[in-house]
Amino acid sequence: MRVLVTGGAGFIGSAVCRQLVLEAEASVVNVDKLTYAANLASLASIDGTSHYRFEQHDICDQEAVTRLFYKWEPSAVIHLAAESHVDRSITGSATFISTNIVGTYTLLESARRYYEGLSSQRQRQFRFIHVSTDEVYGSLGPVDCFREDTPYRPSSPYSASKAASDHLALAWYKTYGLPVIVSNCSNNYGPFQFPEKLIPLTILNAIEYKSLPVYGDGSNVRDWLHVDDHAAGLIRLLFEGRAGEKYNFGGDSERSNLEVVTQICDVLDRLRPGPAARRSLISFVPDRPGHDARYAIDASKARSELGWQPTRSFERGLADTVEWYLASGTWWARARNMVYDGSRLGLPATQH
Ligand SMILES: NC(=O)c1ccc[n+]([C@@H]2O[C@H](COP(=O)([O-])OP(=O)(O)OC[C@H]3O[C@@H](n4cnc5c(N)ncnc54)[C@H](O)[C@@H]3O)[C@@H](O)[C@H]2O)c1
Repeated sequence: MRVLVTGGAGFIGSAVCRQLVLEAEASVVNVDKLTYAANLASLASIDGTSHYRFEQHDICDQEAVTRLFYKWEPSAVIHLAAESHVDRSITGSATFISTNIVGTYTLLESARRYYEGLSSQRQRQFRFIHVSTDEVYGSLGPVDCFREDTPYRPSSPYSASKAASDHLALAWYKTYGLPVIVSNCSNNYGPFQFPEKLIPLTILNAIEYKSLPVYGDGSNVRDWLHVDDHAAGLIRLLFEGRAGEKYNFGGDSERSNLEVVTQICDVLDRLRPGPAARRSLISFVPDRPGHDARYAIDASKARSELGWQPTRSFERGLADTVEWYLASGTWWARARNMVYDGSRLGLPATQH
């Protein structure tokens, strides 16, 4: 099986590429533009193997993307390339519209033309997995959780652009019969995550005894899933997922942002004790505009149809992640020193 993975130099995409090559014994063609969020070092364990190839392209480039399909003749696509950071989408939404919406459209069109020329046997095997987020569903109150039929109510430019791309993907199934599957996943954490998201940013600031910003009062709740469990779910979709369907993935690990930050402080105090308890570094900062209160996932469809379930507790996974960042300074130093220094993004100009 040869899988064309988009965004494979990013956080989740690199986990998917590593798992496909090292565990599923599939071949991977990684198509990535290499934006600020990419890091090819995340692929060091598979780079140079005969099962892995890299192609640097923008998914908005129709000609290049079409050429890749005929050059590599993939039996499936896992589409992860995206602008993925909510705060950046508030500061500047243009690239979110072009990559997440136009880029997805471009990829769907190239895939459709390629798919229509395949033999019926290869058509039966072909899958286009469109990787999306639970943020498309909007904000939950204290009870209830997102199911696959929950209506879309995106709040941020990021989630609105992902919602648009989900609709395009399913329209390409309904209208053209392209065997698309949409996955909507909760917040991911784990190794190789670019240090602007909550968990890696907090870990690095806490290692360096810098202030630990918590938005608002820290009560916003997210459901955390380890990135390797998400990657395993996406690979199951290739074999067990039904075309035209949506699948939610979540970790059954709801935590408030404040709980996550204090837990990281406590793990680091244990692993690398310092001059003071790191909880004293927590500082409450102005909230994100349009900040969703709570996300929670009902993943029973993925459990029953795919035989998938998360394999790590959040406590174990978080401790492993902290240990990974402590041991992997060479991986994150470039991003931290040259790409993003941890300063606040996503506030209207008057609040800076
Ligand atoms: N991180 C999460 O918690 C989470 C949760 C659910 C779903 N998702 C979705 O999973 C996917 C991957 O998320 P991530 O956290 O790994 O993102 P990421 O920002 O770490 O990686 C995105 C990758 O896409 C590439 N890319 C961006 N624009 C491109 C373009 N125009 N052409 C080609 N490549 C381009 C980047 O270079 C980068 O390597 C996204 O679609 C995101 O919406 C993420």
